[in-house]
Order: sequence, then C-alpha cells, then structure tokens
Amino acid sequence: MKTKIALLSVFIAATSAAYAASASENWENSCASCHGADGKAQTKQGKKLKIRDYTDPAVQAVLKDEAMIKATAEGVMEGDKQRMKGYKDEYSEAEIKDLVAFIRALKP
Ligand code: HEC
Repeated sequence: MKTKIALLSVFIAATSAAYAASASENWENSCASCHGADGKAQTKQGKKLKIRDYTDPAVQAVLKDEAMIKATAEGVMEGDKQRMKGYKDEYSEAEIKDLVAFIRALKP
C-alpha cells in the first residue's frame, strides 16, 4: 500500500511538471515576442503595441479569466484592427487554459 501511494505521488509530480513545462514553452514560442518572457512586455513589439505589464497586480486585478481565455483563443481586436491574433488553431482549449494559468502565475 505504501509503495502504491509513493508511486502515485511520483506520477502526479511528473505529470504536473510536464504541464508546467509545456505552458512555459508555448509562452516562450508564441507569446514572449510581444508579452516578454517575464510578461512585462518590455520587448520591441510589446512597447510598440503598448501591452500592459502582466506581472503588475493592478493589471492582473482587471484581467478576467474568461476574457483572457477568449483573447488567447480568438485574438484581441480594437475596432476592426487586430491587435493580437487568436491561437485556437494552434492550441487546444486545455493548452489555452494552461497559458492563462501561466500568466496568472507571473504575478510576483
Ligand atoms: C503580436 C503581438 C502579440 C503576441 C505574439 C501575443 N499577444 Fe497577447 N496581446 C497583444 C496585445 C497588443 C494585447 C492587448 C493589449 C494588452 O492587453 O495590454 C494582448 C492581450 C492579451 C491578453 C489580455 C486579454 C484581456 O483580457 O484583456 C492575454 C491574456 C494575452 N494577450 C495572451 C497571449 C498569449 C497566451 C499569447 C501566446 C499564445 C499572446 N498573447 C501572444 C499582443 C500579442
């Protein structure tokens, strides 16, 4: 019984580590060019597009999970100008939710 529990916790630790790695890899590959690896948007694109600093608790407070998921899936529009493209063709719903959780974890 004890070994079963030990094995189970190893399994859980391994799968959650794999999850964390994939969201951060996706962030690095698809999002960091604008939002910055650290989420502060201090990149050339981030400054040009005036993207908010997602590590700022005040910014995090106005962000809504639902809107973040929608923005990542469908993109961000300003009138008829697209500010950010949607990623629903590249990422599954679960991956998008993981990315939003990743952004939430950027808060210091
Ligand atoms: C071409 C640059 C660009 C890329 C690449 C990009 N974004 Fe964005 N993103 C923006 C801009 C511009 C905004 C709107 C400005 C802001 O929120 O400060 C935005 C806003 C957001 C928002 C906030 C939506 C809200 O609720 O207000 C989220 C969440 C987000 N992006 C997630 C992502 C994720 C996840 C990725 C990668 C899969 C990504 N972005 C890639 C430019 C980009």
